[in-house]
Amino acid sequence: MRIRESIYLVGVVDSEIRNFHGYEVPIGTTYNSYLVIDDEVTLVDGVQADFATEQIDNIKKIIGDRPIDNFIINHVEPDHSGSIPLIAATYPNLKAFGTNNALREIEAYYPGTKLNFEVVRAGDKLETSDHTFEFIPAPMVHWPDSMSTYVPEKKVLFSNDIFGQHIGDGSRFDHELDRDKLLERAASYYANIVLPFGMQVLRVFSALEDLDIEVALPSHGVILEDALPDFIESYKRWANGEVNEAKASIVYDTMWGTTAKLALMIRDEYKERGLDVELLNLGTIHYSDAMARLLESKYIAVGSPTLNNQMLPSVAAFLTYFKGLKPKNRVARAFGSFGWSGESIKYVRAVLEDELKLEMEDDLSVKWNVDSEQA
Ligand code: FEO
Repeated sequence: MRIRESIYLVGVVDSEIRNFHGYEVPIGTTYNSYLVIDDEVTLVDGVQADFATEQIDNIKKIIGDRPIDNFIINHVEPDHSGSIPLIAATYPNLKAFGTNNALREIEAYYPGTKLNFEVVRAGDKLETSDHTFEFIPAPMVHWPDSMSTYVPEKKVLFSNDIFGQHIGDGSRFDHELDRDKLLERAASYYANIVLPFGMQVLRVFSALEDLDIEVALPSHGVILEDALPDFIESYKRWANGEVNEAKASIVYDTMWGTTAKLALMIRDEYKERGLDVELLNLGTIHYSDAMARLLESKYIAVGSPTLNNQMLPSVAAFLTYFKGLKPKNRVARAFGSFGWSGESIKYVRAVLEDELKLEMEDDLSVKWNVDSEQA
């Protein structure tokens, strides 16, 4: 598919995937890859291994038997690198470009793959007859190897994971989607993939500041034209750790309904304080969905009953995930019900207070049932 003069989309749609390394993706995703054609053929990014043949077919539909000259590898996570061995075997004379970390990871992931690889650094460029490819390392957005590539002649940024959205419904451009829905997918992606790397995002943004970018071509989801300013504004806000002071999320699961009653009590308390509250029941939604929905909440309450001296597994899974994503600038609270021992509240608080160092409000716990005489 032609995107701009001399730029083509040769990636693939993975409409079936629903679990992306633990992140639930309800409408699938894409692994985007692009061809830039002038006197040379330059391929930007690979795709997931199961789709390697499809990517090669897509490339051949555009260039026929013409060889690929240059292969820019912006990121080595397998969703973007799985087709590297087949690309290298199909086009043995191409020259690959990526960061030093990318080279190390490719050697480790794909031993025996022969690539003529040039390590690039910030400020390095690849010049073809009509295009300049400026390499912008973006370490930890998302992996140590990550980078973006800017082409000034087209005002295009191949942003890779930055600005990604897991959308595999066949949409290809931002204008095909309702803007709120698109931003919702972007927020979900940020909350589940990018959240721990706010400082690194800001560092990349300072490198992008002087660039004239009209179009972002991310490695997942739709191409960003009209929506790009909204994405940039949202990323700056999220990366700066800005949250909505008037929003609260209550994440919980329940055994026999008592922890759910406590969740309602906390909801009423939050409402009395003028907060906009959302209940997120892990018995009905996936922890990654909860993560997406609480991205901008200043107040977060997490509740679990005690089961066999532990938290409920659903809450423990959420907290493991939440902890890894390192949310900051929140006011948290632990709550839960129990029958005799009551460890769950202590374990919930330990993650929120001791590990994440969040400001805490008082615990809320109850024995057996709300209003129980034995409580
Ligand atoms: Fe889409 Fe970090 O890979």
